[in-house]
Amino acid sequence: MSLSKIWLSSPHMGGNEQEYIKEAFDTNWVAPLGPNVTGFESDLENYLGEDVSVGALSSGTAAIHLGLILLGIKPGDEVICQSMTFSASANPILYLGALPVFVDSESDTWNMDPIALEEAIKDRISKGKTPKAIIAVHLYGMPYKADVIKNVADKYSIPVLEDSAEALGSTYKGQKCGTFGDIGILSFNGNKIITTSGGGAIVSKSKEIKDKAVFLSTQARDNAPHYQHSEVGYNYRMSNICAGIGRGQMEILDKHIGLRRDMNAFYKELFKNTPFVTVLSEPDSDYFSNHWLTAIVINENIEGLDREGLRNELDKHNIESRPLWKPMHLQPVFEKYPFYGSNISQKLFENGLCLPSGSNLDAESKERISKVIINYFIDN
Ligand SMILES: Cc1ncc(COP(=O)(O)O)c(C=O)c1O
Repeated sequence: MSLSKIWLSSPHMGGNEQEYIKEAFDTNWVAPLGPNVTGFESDLENYLGEDVSVGALSSGTAAIHLGLILLGIKPGDEVICQSMTFSASANPILYLGALPVFVDSESDTWNMDPIALEEAIKDRISKGKTPKAIIAVHLYGMPYKADVIKNVADKYSIPVLEDSAEALGSTYKGQKCGTFGDIGILSFNGNKIITTSGGGAIVSKSKEIKDKAVFLSTQARDNAPHYQHSEVGYNYRMSNICAGIGRGQMEILDKHIGLRRDMNAFYKELFKNTPFVTVLSEPDSDYFSNHWLTAIVINENIEGLDREGLRNELDKHNIESRPLWKPMHLQPVFEKYPFYGSNISQKLFENGLCLPSGSNLDAESKERISKVIINYFIDN
C-alpha cells in the first residue's frame, strides 16, 4: 500500500465553516454579496487593528490589480517589485500596461533589499522615469523591514503596495502585516494560512479606498436604476459562500499560526546539528512570522548534497516540497525588464527548498518527514 501524500500546505478546516455556508443557503445569500462577506470583512478589520478597512475580493491577484489601479498606475508607468516572489505579485503590473522594475532580496529576511531599492529608484529617476509604486512582499510569512522600506519610499514620495498574501498574522515591531502599505493585500487561496478556497482582500487605512475597490470589483456601476458605467469595472468581489469559509477560518487563525510555528520549531530541531542547512528564521524579536512555509537553504558544494537531491528523495516517499520562488528577473516572461541588486535571490532559488508546513500535519507525518531528511543527510 502506498503512503498517503504529505502536502506542502493544504487546507485545514476549523469546523464551523459549513455552518456559515448553511446559513448562506438557508437565507439564499448565494451571491457575491451578503452577510458572510461583510462579516468576514469586519472579522479581518478587528483582527488587523490599526483602524483599517478591508474589502473582500475573489483573489489576492485581483486585490493587487485593483490596488495598482487605485494608486493611479497607468500604461507606461514603472512599478518596482520584489523579484523573489510569486508571479502574481508582478503580473498585474503588466495587466495595466505598466513596466516592472525588479529588486533583489536581502539575505536575512529574503525580502526586498532596501539598499538595492534605493539604487533602483535613483537610477530610474536619473533616466527620467520616477517609479510610481513599490510592491514589497512578506515572503513565506517573514515580515519585510516595513519601516526601512517606507522611509526609502517616503524619501521619493512613492507609495507602497504591501503584498501580505502569505503573511496574515505575522507582525513587525508589534504591528500586523497587511497594515503597513498605502494599500495592503491578503490571499486566501487553498494553500494559504487560512483559505476561502480562493479569495483575497484589499486593506487600507482609508475607507474611501476600500469603497472604491468594492465599486470597481462589482463592475463599477454608477448610482442609477439602470446599468450605467462611467469607469471600467471588474468582476472581483468575493462570493458569500467563500466568505462563509473565511468566517469559520478566522475562528481558528491564531491556533493554526501556533501549529505552523510548531512545524518551524520541529524543523529547527531537526537541522540543529546540520551546519550546512539554514532554516529561514526571524532575525530578532522585531519579527514575528506566521511561518506559513518553513524554508531552508542548503549551502553549496556539500559533497553532492543539494536541493534537488533532497526534493527528489522526499518525492520518492510521497512528500511534497518545492524550490523557493524563482525570482521574476529570471523568468522568461519578465527577463527583459530591469533588475537591481546582485545574486542573492538567485542563490536562494538555486539552493532553497520549502518543506511541508501545514497546520494539519500529525505526529506520523512528522516522523515520516524526519526519517527521510535524516537518512538523506546521514546516508550520503
Ligand atoms: C506573494 C503572493 N502574492 C500574491 C499571491 C496571489 O494570491 P491569489 O492566489 O489569491 O491570487 C500569492 C498567492 O497565491 C502570493 O503567494
